[in-house]
Amino acid sequence: MTHQAKIPGALNVEAIRGEFPILEREINGKPLVYLDNAASAQKPEFVIESVAGVYRASYANVHRGLHTLANETTEAFEAAREDVRRFLNAPSADQIVFTRGSTEAINLVAHSFCQKLAPGDEIIISQMEHHSNIVPWRLACDAGGLVLKWVRVTDTGELDYEHLADLVNEKTRLIALTHMSNVLGTVNDTARIRTIASHHDVPVLLDGSQSAVHLPVDVQALDCDFFVFTGHKLYGPSGIGALYARGDWLERLPPFMGGGEMIADVFETHVTFADAPHKFEAGTPAIADAIGLGAAIRWVERHDRTAIMEHERALMDRAVAGLSEIDGLRIIGTAQDKGAIISFDMAGAHPHDIAQILDKYGVAVRAGHHCAQPLMARMGVSATARASFAIYNTMDEADAFVDALKKSREFLI
Ligand SMILES: Cc1ncc(COP(=O)(O)O)c(C=O)c1O
Repeated sequence: MTHQAKIPGALNVEAIRGEFPILEREINGKPLVYLDNAASAQKPEFVIESVAGVYRASYANVHRGLHTLANETTEAFEAAREDVRRFLNAPSADQIVFTRGSTEAINLVAHSFCQKLAPGDEIIISQMEHHSNIVPWRLACDAGGLVLKWVRVTDTGELDYEHLADLVNEKTRLIALTHMSNVLGTVNDTARIRTIASHHDVPVLLDGSQSAVHLPVDVQALDCDFFVFTGHKLYGPSGIGALYARGDWLERLPPFMGGGEMIADVFETHVTFADAPHKFEAGTPAIADAIGLGAAIRWVERHDRTAIMEHERALMDRAVAGLSEIDGLRIIGTAQDKGAIISFDMAGAHPHDIAQILDKYGVAVRAGHHCAQPLMARMGVSATARASFAIYNTMDEADAFVDALKKSREFLI
C-alpha cells in the first residue's frame, strides 16, 4: 500500500510518518492502519528520544537537590511547564499544574473547588462527557450534598444550548463540559457556553483531552476558568497532563493531595503550603514524562495547526463518503462542527466483532462505550465502533479502513 495521496494544506504526511517508528509495523501480515488515536496516539522519535534522553543523560529528582543533575532536571521540568503555557497561551507558567492526565486534573478541581460549596449548590455537566468529567463530580456531589445537573444532547450529537441556559441559575457554581467529544467528535461552541455562564457569573471548566490535539487552543480566547488535557493523546507520554487555571484560582483553591514538595512548612500542629502551582504537585512528579510532554508540544508546534485540522477533516470526509455506501451503517454524531472522530454502528454486527475483524486487516479501531455510558444511553446504543484520525494518517488508510469494513460486513452479516 502506498501511503501518499493528495493531502490538503502544508503537511508532508509521508515525512511525518517516517518519524513514527511504530507505523512501520505489520499487524496480522498487513500494514498497520492505526485509527485508535482518540484513545491514545503514537509517539514520534523526537518524544521517545526526549524521554530516553532524560534517563540516559540528565536525571535526578526535581526541586530538591543542590547538585548539577538536580538543577539540570529541574530546569528541563520547568521548561516543559513553559512549553505547556505557550501551547495553551496561558498568561503565566504558575497557572499550569502538571497532573497524571485529564482525569487527575478534573479530580483535582472537583475535589478542591467543591470543598467550599454548600449542600444544594449545583454543578452542570452534559450527557456527552467522558467518565473522567462525570465521576469526579458525582463523588464531590455525593460527598457534599451538591446537585449534579445534565445538559441534554441533541439527536445529531450537539449540546442543547437552550437547555444549558435553562439549567444555569443562582445556585450554579460551575459548568464542566467537554471541548470536543471523544465519541461524537462534536466541537462545542465555547463562546456560547461562556455567554450563558456569564449571565450568572459561573466559572467554566473545559475538558480539552481531544480538542488540544485537533484544534488550536488559546485559553485566554476561550475565556475559560479551567482547561485540562492529557499528554498521551498529543503524541506525548502517558501518565502526564496538565491543568490550567485562570487568574488566582490556584491560590484560592485548597490543595488536592498532601505530601512532599507542596508545603512551605510542616509543624506538629499545622501545615503551610507552597505557592501555586507547587501546592498541587505533591510527591515526586512524572519527571521524564513531563519533559516528554514538553517535547511533544514542541513537535506539534512544528506543524501548522490549521493544516493539521484540515488534513484530519479531509480524512474523515473521505471515510464518511466510503461508509455511506455500506448498508445498515449509521454514524453516531453528525454535528456541524466536528473533529476527525467517527463513531458508528452496523445493523446486525456487534462493535466488538467489527473491531476484531478489522484487526485481521491491520486496522486498529476502538469498540465499546468509550467511557461515555450516559451518552451511549442517550444515543440508544450500548456500544459503538470508533475510528479516529491523527496527523500521520493518510487517504489510503481511510480507504483501507472502509474496504476492511466492507469485508467485515460480508463476513458478519
Ligand atoms: C474527552 C476525554 N476526557 C477525558 C479523558 C481522560 O484522559 P486520561 O485518561 O488521559 O486522563 C479522555 C480520554 O479518553 C477523553 O477522551
